Amino acid sequence: MTSLAIIGGSGFSDFPALTVVSEARIETPFGETSAPVVQGRLADAAVLFLPRHGAGHRLPPHRINYRANLWALRAAGAERVIGLAAVGGIGERFGPLTLAVPHDLIDYTHGREHSLYDGERSGVDHVDMTAPYCEELRQALLAACAAVDCPAQATAVYGATQGPRLETAAEIARLRRDGCDLVGMTGMPEAGLARELGLCYASLAFVVNRAAGTGEGVITMDEINANLATCVARVQKVLTHVASA
Ligand code: HPA
Repeated sequence: MTSLAIIGGSGFSDFPALTVVSEARIETPFGETSAPVVQGRLADAAVLFLPRHGAGHRLPPHRINYRANLWALRAAGAERVIGLAAVGGIGERFGPLTLAVPHDLIDYTHGREHSLYDGERSGVDHVDMTAPYCEELRQALLAACAAVDCPAQATAVYGATQGPRLETAAEIARLRRDGCDLVGMTGMPEAGLARELGLCYASLAFVVNRAAGTGEGVITMDEINANLATCVARVQKVLTHVASA
């Protein structure tokens, strides 16, 4: 099995199931990572862990140095990367607490450093993104979800929005017309950079609210945080199984 890294999102600034072995600040050509890269153990397996929002969730989605994060994980030996994602659910199949392993995405973000190919250091290349997620890792995640009795949706289109504000009802209606099932703020440029780096990348998404205009009333942080707590416990079980499989 190739080396596994986990990028933690909301609810995963730290990771109680993970035993920290060491932490390393890794120099990158793109500046600082969100936090030191943790070398840890999950069950009995070695994993790398990086909280995307930094210690104490201090970095908003549009200020994360995605390039440094992905570059550092590869430098630390990662070959497979799981990006955790707290998301809003758009379609009927994606009510709160649903787990999903997206198979495709649409990028609505803007103004983020989104490529290693900036025309200076690395020249220009155009990586294929027909299927943006690594199918082998998607299947491993789905098998783990089934094994620990946390069923997951095996197909979902993830819409990456700019944030940090939540969307308007009309924006979500547009995402729905575009075919999005889930909405989150950090899935891109993360998946694109992973592809540029040749990493096998997949996302484990968990629904913490109904997306704007698709549920009752407004979205509250209390609702999001209550659902997050339930999802975090389930996601840790899934990850522990993936790491040790
Ligand atoms: N929109 C965007 N990102 C999110 C949401 C949402 O409703 N919920 C959790 N992350």
